[in-house]
Amino acid sequence: MKCRVCRGPAVIDVRRHNANFCEEHFLRLCRNQVERAIEQHRMLSSGDRVLVAVSGGKDSLAVWDILLELGYQVDGLYLGLGIDGYSGRSEAYARAFAKDRGLSLEVVDLPADYGYDIPNGARAARRVPCSACGLSKRHLFDEAARRGNYDALVTGHNLDDEAAVLLGNVLRWQGEYLGRQQPVLPAGEGFPRKVKPLVRLGERETAAYCVLRGIEYVVEECPMAEGNRHLGYKEALNAIEERSPGTKHDFYFGFLDRAADRFVPVVAEERGAVGSCVRCGAPANAEICAFCRLVERAGGRAPEAGTDVPLLLGRPPTGGVS
Ligand code: AMP
Ligand code: FES
Ligand code: ZN
Ligand code: ZN
Repeated sequence: MKCRVCRGPAVIDVRRHNANFCEEHFLRLCRNQVERAIEQHRMLSSGDRVLVAVSGGKDSLAVWDILLELGYQVDGLYLGLGIDGYSGRSEAYARAFAKDRGLSLEVVDLPADYGYDIPNGARAARRVPCSACGLSKRHLFDEAARRGNYDALVTGHNLDDEAAVLLGNVLRWQGEYLGRQQPVLPAGEGFPRKVKPLVRLGERETAAYCVLRGIEYVVEECPMAEGNRHLGYKEALNAIEERSPGTKHDFYFGFLDRAADRFVPVVAEERGAVGSCVRCGAPANAEICAFCRLVERAGGRAPEAGTDVPLLLGRPPTGGVS
């Protein structure tokens, strides 16, 4: 097995590109793919202050590392979800990555700062854990980006994630979700720009990237996600990809090139006028935002103003949704 670029011994095959790569050229491929995604979708500009949401897993640590290599100024945000054992282990990897490199990592902890955790919050709100988790993450990512005045919020969603979400949305023709399924969502009033620089890399590649760069990450998957639909879509796509390498890429980028535009009006239509939550000040469609309702039902509380996680109360009303 020889490297496509230098003909030296290869360490990995990337079937989607029908090519093998040595360590140096594989790492370069990963950086190039991220650079290309950033340029093609106008995700970031050189002076941007960037906040990356890091879960302690391979994708978010890889994207943090690559963005730093590309010269961006990037801080991290870790959200402790209070999932027994798993959350503590994930946090340790995120903290170790930041500490070893002298990077800034903000840690927001649901049990300590908001008085609830995902398993209890989901039960109390009668939501499946991943739904309570997604709602909490979206809200707290936006809030942290606003608080820190960041230009963009980065997540580690990769090609496998995006193709699986797309499949789920297409199977049910969920127009609003399809209209939002973009690698970059522009900033709205009260919302940071949200970008996914890993959309051109698969999870096998981000895992290999971490191993080759000596980045340690939490390997186990979230125990609450076991058996959920999303994992089923990933498995189905993996079976197809195995037979026809490149299908995931064509599915996702074909959607962006040829179909995504058709769903944008659906989003505009469904956005409607919004105000701001009377409790936390975040943009909301109702008097109290979905996050504050979840916290209330779960028996939690918003942090006191002046603590590490300041409330946004008293902010001028904002509008627009991401
Ligand atoms: P997931 O929804 O678990 O597939 O994660 C998607 C992305 O969300 C990750 O790549 C991270 O960027 C971010 N993320 C997930 N969990 C956390 C967390 N606990 N804290 C901060 N960011 C997270
Ligand atoms: Fe959200 Fe597991 S990471 S439910
Ligand atoms: Zn090479
Ligand atoms: Zn609120």
